[in-house]
Amino acid sequence: MAIQYDRRKFVQQASAGAALWGVAAALGAEPSVAPTQKDLSQPSDANRPKESGQPSERRPPALKELYRNHFLIGMAGDLPGNYSQQELALVKEHFNMVTPENCMKPALVHPSQNTWRFERPDALVKWCLENNIDVHGHTLVWHAQTNDWFFRDGDKATVIRRMEEHISTLVGRYKGKIQSWDVVNEAISDGGDAQTGRTENLRRSSWLQAVGPEFITLAFKFAHQADPQAKLYYNDYGIEAGPKHASSLVLLRRLLDQRVPIHAVGIQGHWSTRGIPYAAIDKAIGNYAALGLKVAITELDVTIRGTSGGQFGPGFGPRRAANIAPAAPEDLKAQADAYARLFAIFVEHNSVLERVTFWGLNDRRTWRFGQHPLVFDANNQPKPAFWAIVDVLRSPQPDLPPRS
Ligand code: XIL
Repeated sequence: MAIQYDRRKFVQQASAGAALWGVAAALGAEPSVAPTQKDLSQPSDANRPKESGQPSERRPPALKELYRNHFLIGMAGDLPGNYSQQELALVKEHFNMVTPENCMKPALVHPSQNTWRFERPDALVKWCLENNIDVHGHTLVWHAQTNDWFFRDGDKATVIRRMEEHISTLVGRYKGKIQSWDVVNEAISDGGDAQTGRTENLRRSSWLQAVGPEFITLAFKFAHQADPQAKLYYNDYGIEAGPKHASSLVLLRRLLDQRVPIHAVGIQGHWSTRGIPYAAIDKAIGNYAALGLKVAITELDVTIRGTSGGQFGPGFGPRRAANIAPAAPEDLKAQADAYARLFAIFVEHNSVLERVTFWGLNDRRTWRFGQHPLVFDANNQPKPAFWAIVDVLRSPQPDLPPRS
């Protein structure tokens, strides 16, 4: 049976009224009655900024306040690092949870058996604590960004011991300071068919080969031992649809049957305006909730199609805005519609959806650099997608194109 945890949501409900007052004030409205969510459902076109994404007169409300009654709003980044003061201010304004983008991954924090690099993770946790921002740890057991020493010359028992030492040291160090962890990342294979969908279809990772399917069970057990209060996630991409979704249900049922301490599923949410499986996302959240698990959207970005989309491949180009083609207005509009439809689905599921985390901060601080995937542009200005997710709360049924 999954452990339920509603402390944060309870606090959110209690402060919802105050938060909506804040929103109304930020939007320039002067409510004459105590605000409810309905008070926000007024026409917004008058204030809607131009679709070019240029700065507008309309003051951007803080996303974390706007959505306080629904779920946490997160971002990913190795803060404070080399982020500018303006970028850090943007984080503080809009986000109430931070996921370290890279610095807590095994290859970075634990590059060899006797080497730990805690400087950046420590600095991140300190900065977040000082600024009243929660931290979601990412990620303990993964096939990528994990050095070979974990597996080299080790029999099964040795590899398990190394895993345990890794998890207990890292989770133990931040016990009480990190609220939740991605314990196992991306364990399910891509693709698949009706037949594999009846199985867990696990990726043939070094972990699977050294330990067998039990590696997942053990990782959750070790994390729970190290911090019994931490909320523990299985995190993956593409698990919202098709055979991979079916496999995720098989895997999660096994873990729950074995009474593994798992509390939530992370749907990463790396999508593109070329096609988002809206209906499947809606259904998948419901399916996970039916298992008794919480859900989060953990790595949201929506890349833009078109000539500006692919020229730097999957995103490791130079991070200078001057080098890339600006997004076309029609692409920004399509992206805004996509974000609006996604957030409309997320809000419907707010009783199980704990958090929506964007993977990055702005269109400069993103692993999909060049594809304009986030809601702030490279100069930290809100894009049409930002206003679309603001307006979703003002209009219960946004005027959106048909679902693809
Ligand atoms: C990405 C980072 O954003 C990049 O900076 C890094 O080079 C590669 O990893 N799924 C995950 C994340 O769980 O950890 C990945 O982050 C993106 C895909």
